[in-house]
Amino acid sequence: MKRNKIALIGGGQIGGVLVQLIAQKQLGDVVLYDIVEDLPQGKTLDIVEASRVDQFDVNIKGTNDYEDIEGSDLVIITAGLPRKPGMSRDDLLTTNAKIMKTVAENVKQYAPNSIVIVISNPLDAMVTLFQKVSGFPFNRVIGQAGVLDSSRFSTFIAWELGVSVKDVNAMVLGGHGDTMVPIVRYANVNGIPALELLERKYNDKTKAKEVMDAMVNRTKLAGGEVVKLLKTGSAFYSPASSAIAMAEAIIYDEKRVLPVCAYLKGEFGINGYYVGVPAVLGANGIEKVIEFALNAEEQTALNNSVAAVKELVEAMAKLGF
Ligand code: NAD
Ligand code: LAC
Repeated sequence: MKRNKIALIGGGQIGGVLVQLIAQKQLGDVVLYDIVEDLPQGKTLDIVEASRVDQFDVNIKGTNDYEDIEGSDLVIITAGLPRKPGMSRDDLLTTNAKIMKTVAENVKQYAPNSIVIVISNPLDAMVTLFQKVSGFPFNRVIGQAGVLDSSRFSTFIAWELGVSVKDVNAMVLGGHGDTMVPIVRYANVNGIPALELLERKYNDKTKAKEVMDAMVNRTKLAGGEVVKLLKTGSAFYSPASSAIAMAEAIIYDEKRVLPVCAYLKGEFGINGYYVGVPAVLGANGIEKVIEFALNAEEQTALNNSVAAVKELVEAMAKLGF
């Protein structure tokens, strides 16, 4: 059987961790593309020189030539610039949209049958643009945000309750921004509602709600919290791990139910936008969006988040993309 070929577009912080994880898990052969000369070659050489120690044996190549991604089965995109001081949101949107347009044209040319996971920010706009430029079917173009946002929410709940994070299930829907929607009602520890456990811990419903609200807010601002600490960039280990969970679901046809940025055609009352929702991920990419009943408060929050995504997409259209 042919080994999977995985192309990584963007050889920065996340791109490097992606190579290492793919190699260590032997998910397939890897091509790391970046426009900066020698950077992907240097990173991949460094990682491949650990192959004897880590006991992995896959082909790993760094390149500045799109031809090398030819025939890739899976493409993960992190190309783009982070916001710099003095840069407006529109400046960043223009810069990253230009980059994403070129990336999409090349992926379309060299890996026309691939399934694509977009990580670059602003996430919801970049996924939308990639799909528009490539013309790939919606099931093959997926954004990574919800897996990470949900993992962050789960981590905070585990710390607060003093339980293993492995037993926490908590999901975040909506766009990858401050308007994201952590779903408190279904957050649980091995099936037991997290809010009930908080109420028992504090023996006080008001205090429990305050603590939960604080965790919800921390989740919404979690990306910024890391940026503030790192000072030179944004989170990269956890976004890479999140994309790898999605890649594994696709490669092994796992049918995992993960919160991902998916194109909606009426689900949750949303039509024609990429938004974070639970979906089945398998060999065909997004195989199904999983709908469930939201209460009025959750639906309002989701609609509010969709409004923010729409604003971004419209701003991008005004800029000519
Ligand atoms: P980084 O700056 O370390 O890496 C980005 C890389 O893209 C750089 O190596 C740069 O040379 C490359 N690049 C620039 N223009 C390119 C082009 N035209 N073609 C190919 N490569 C190009 O950034 P990072 O920390 O790896 O983050 C990458 C992206 O992911 C950023 O946009 C960041 O905001 C985003 N991000 C998303 C999430 C998420 O959950 N979706 C989380 C964290 C970061
Ligand atoms: C994050 C941002 C940078 O969530 O997307 O870490």
